[in-house]
This record gives sequence, C-alpha cells and structure tokens, in this order.
Amino acid sequence: MNLSSRAAAICAFALALATGSGPVTAQSKPEDGLALGRKMLAEDNPGDLWVERGQRLFTAKRGPKNASLEKCDLGMGPGVVKGAFAQLPRYFADTDKVQDLESRLLTCMVELQGFKREDIIRTRFGTLDRDSDMEALVSYVGAASNGLRMNVRLTHAKEREMYKAGEYAFYRRSGPLDFACVTCHGESGKRIRLQDLPNMTKAEEMREVVATGWPAYRGTHSTVRTMQHRLYDCFWQMRLPDLGFASDLSVALTAYLNYSANGGEIKLPGVRR
Ligand code: HEC
Repeated sequence: MNLSSRAAAICAFALALATGSGPVTAQSKPEDGLALGRKMLAEDNPGDLWVERGQRLFTAKRGPKNASLEKCDLGMGPGVVKGAFAQLPRYFADTDKVQDLESRLLTCMVELQGFKREDIIRTRFGTLDRDSDMEALVSYVGAASNGLRMNVRLTHAKEREMYKAGEYAFYRRSGPLDFACVTCHGESGKRIRLQDLPNMTKAEEMREVVATGWPAYRGTHSTVRTMQHRLYDCFWQMRLPDLGFASDLSVALTAYLNYSANGGEIKLPGVRR
C-alpha cells in the first residue's frame, strides 16, 4: 500500500472518531456519537485499501514456488473468490478438515506457494511498521462476497461436529475469571466502557457481527483485523491461554458464529473501534 494513502486513511479515521464521539450531552447517548463515527467511516472505508492489496497478493506469483493463489480452492473451485466467504467455514476433502477463511488461505500459501507455515503465523497480524499479507488477503476474499448472504451449511458430519464444539465453547465458562463468551455477549444493550457488546444469541445482531463485521478496519489498530484476531482478543479479555491461529477451537467458534449469521447480507470489510 502506498504510504500517503494509508496516512490519509488514518487521519480520516481519527477525524471521524473525534467528531463522532464529541461532547456527550444529557440528550445524546454515547453510542449515538460512535455510531455516527462508524457511519462516516463506512462511507470512505480505509479497509478498501487492504482489499486492493489483497487482490494484488492473490494474483501475484510469490513464495519459494513462485505461484499465485489462483489455484487456491476456497470451496467454490480453484481461484474462485466470489461467494467463498459466505459459505465458510466448510469441510475440505484434501485436508480432511473444516476450515475457516484464514486457515484455508494458510493451507494454500503453504501448499501452492511454498511459504513456511510458521512464517505466515508469525506475521499473521500486522504491526505499525509491517503489513500482514493474511489481513489483506482476507479483506479481498471477504469483500468478493459483498451483496451475497451468509449461507454456511452443516452438511458434512465434520461440519456439524465443529458447529457443536463451537456452541459448547461459546457457552462454557472457563479460565481464572470464569467467563464464557455468553457472559459478555448474551444480552442486548450491554456495554463495556463505551463499547456496545453485541448479543450473539440473537440472529439479527449476529448477522451484523459476521456479515458486516470481520475482516474490519480497526481504527485503534490502524489496520484491518480478521475474525481470528477478534477471537484472539476476546480470549485475552477472558485471561485464557492465547488462542492458536487457525486452531480447531478458533475454527469451531467461527463455525458457530458464522452459521448463526446465516441470511445476513455481506458488506465487508467492516469498520470497528
Ligand atoms: C469480558 C467480556 C468478553 C468476553 C467474555 C468475550 N468478549 Fe467478545 N467482545 C468483548 C468486547 C469488549 C468486544 C469489543 C467491543 C468493541 O470494542 O466494540 C468484543 C467483541 C467481540 C466480537 C466482535 C463484535 C463486533 O460486532 O464486531 C466478537 C465476534 C466476539 N467478541 C466474540 C467473542 C467470543 C467468541 C467469545 C468467547 C470465546 C468472547 N467474545 C468473549 C468482550 C468480551
């Protein structure tokens, strides 16, 4: 990405946040300002820059095998990105695994391009001085389903198994704080500090989280983050051990969340705090 456009995007975000969350009066609730900031951003989403970079990365010949990802099968056939996000996670026969978008891209980058798995995992999250290829690729593939509706199916036995495991993990309390996901995400209108907490037991709210949420441009991180990062962050909030990237547990939770969002119209990348 070109640096000046990135800087401009970051300034635009800061401005939207500043105007969006301006003085809170007795009449205006804080979320009104945040919602306004998000709306302003969505109209000119810096995440679109990640989509463009992701597209370039997808078609460029890269890695030790000097190959593009145009033979990568994300579930719709080799190289087909349109509609792939809408149906992930899903079962893949070649790996005999249920995979979400990130874990499937990881497989393709290793198998087709010859990258080392541990290198991709080490650089999976971008930092201020290093962009992440994974975040860009996920943005590109996610946005290629824009306008379609979430349509995760549980036809294969392993897909049903993953969904069930995700549901179990969502409701199970664990860790030193004895939190479950549902502790924070089981009621509408809950908030931590100024952040609204979506009620993930309601399909309507879940559709927004998945179909218009992740990958999301996160203003506080100045980059796009993926669902894997969001879950990693919530594990940290629960003081659980780090959630392994592309681990079965992360895919199980994503299967549960994405299936619950079926019917939601996709509009990605999202924009988040
Ligand atoms: C301690 C409370 C807490 C727990 C427990 C928790 N989260 Fe979160 N979650 C948050 C907060 C805070 C946010 C971010 C809200 C914000 O910044 O806008 C969030 C955001 C999310 C989002 C993104 C929502 C959106 O609309 O963008 C997802 C998805 C999510 N959590 C999933 C989970 C899952 C799955 C679990 C269980 C593994 C979990 N969370 C456990 C507090 C929690």
